[in-house]
Amino acid sequence: MSQAFSFSDSILSWYHLYGRKSLPWQETQTSYVVWVSEIMLQQTQVSTVIPYFERFMTRFPTVLHLANTPLDEVLHFWTGLGYYARARNLHKSAQIIVKEFEGVFPTSFSDIIALPGIGRSTAGAILSLSLSQHFPILDGNVKRTLTRFFAISGWPGIKNVENQLWELAEKNTPKNEVKEYNQAMMDIGAMVCTPRNPKCTLCPLKDHCQANALEKQHDFPEKKPKKTLPEKTACLLVLQYKNTIFLEQRPLSGLWGGLWCLPETQEKDLLAFIKEKERVLSFSSDTALEYLGAFRHTFSHFHLDIVPVRLMLNIQPDTQKNKTFLESNKALWYNLNQPPEIGLSSPIKKILLQLTCDLETHTQANNLLGVL
Ligand code: ADE
Repeated sequence: MSQAFSFSDSILSWYHLYGRKSLPWQETQTSYVVWVSEIMLQQTQVSTVIPYFERFMTRFPTVLHLANTPLDEVLHFWTGLGYYARARNLHKSAQIIVKEFEGVFPTSFSDIIALPGIGRSTAGAILSLSLSQHFPILDGNVKRTLTRFFAISGWPGIKNVENQLWELAEKNTPKNEVKEYNQAMMDIGAMVCTPRNPKCTLCPLKDHCQANALEKQHDFPEKKPKKTLPEKTACLLVLQYKNTIFLEQRPLSGLWGGLWCLPETQEKDLLAFIKEKERVLSFSSDTALEYLGAFRHTFSHFHLDIVPVRLMLNIQPDTQKNKTFLESNKALWYNLNQPPEIGLSSPIKKILLQLTCDLETHTQANNLLGVL
């Protein structure tokens, strides 16, 4: 007689043969390591996360290191990874862990899920992967595999669809080898039950998967009802003195919270905006405005068309002296040749990189002129 099919046994047998066992966060799976890696892996691919994770762990090897570092420096280590609320929440949680748990990562589900930025799936991943506690997980990979296997209709962002998926996740998570099982579910989703072109012939679940039987793998999970993203515009003012650029720190709440940014306005208000900057920073500009290349940056919820505009100054206004007049109470002159370790969003980093390249080209051209 053929053996009865077991979802978890099939997953575990596959894992022992093919699962990932040597990712950087699998070397020593403490709760801290799993927490940081799981937060980085939200909305971000493994290959992108690896170098960020390694740099982060070298700089912040324990919760204490993270809690005792100013947020600015933590954001610097997050620059380019996006979704910066993740870094702010990591930092805030580390401070809570130091204050309320004497710096030891909590081991109970209720304490962990109460920390900012940690939801049910991440709490389950931390406790199962680091302490083999019996908790299910339900990240995007697991959702995809379960919706296909059980042919679950409806977009998983809808509450009752999500509840169904949690029930299935609970029912199928085995008592033993929970750590291996949860890792396997993430691996199956990332390697076999992929969003596009799933490798069904290689799947240990293929003979019992309803989507495979119906040849409707691509119909599950249902897509989020499409809303066209709104389009916004922003004009970013590049105030440049020699190789330094004026940056302001954004307030902690809101878009790019806590990151350093170029002063932002709307193009129609640009001249008045410059006048205001001249007043508060005590400078006067008589050079022409220079439009740098415009480009689009897309967030999860809107497109932002960015127009950088440069004004070269012939003095460097003193940000300290003018501090009280500035909208943001933190401002600095960013040295393109000796960049400070601060948090920058990707579009700002891109503009600063372009300015650094321009500077180098300019210097080379001047050197060449000097030789001739
Ligand atoms: N995605 C989310 N968590 C993961 C993990 N622990 N390993 C690989 N991919 C993941």
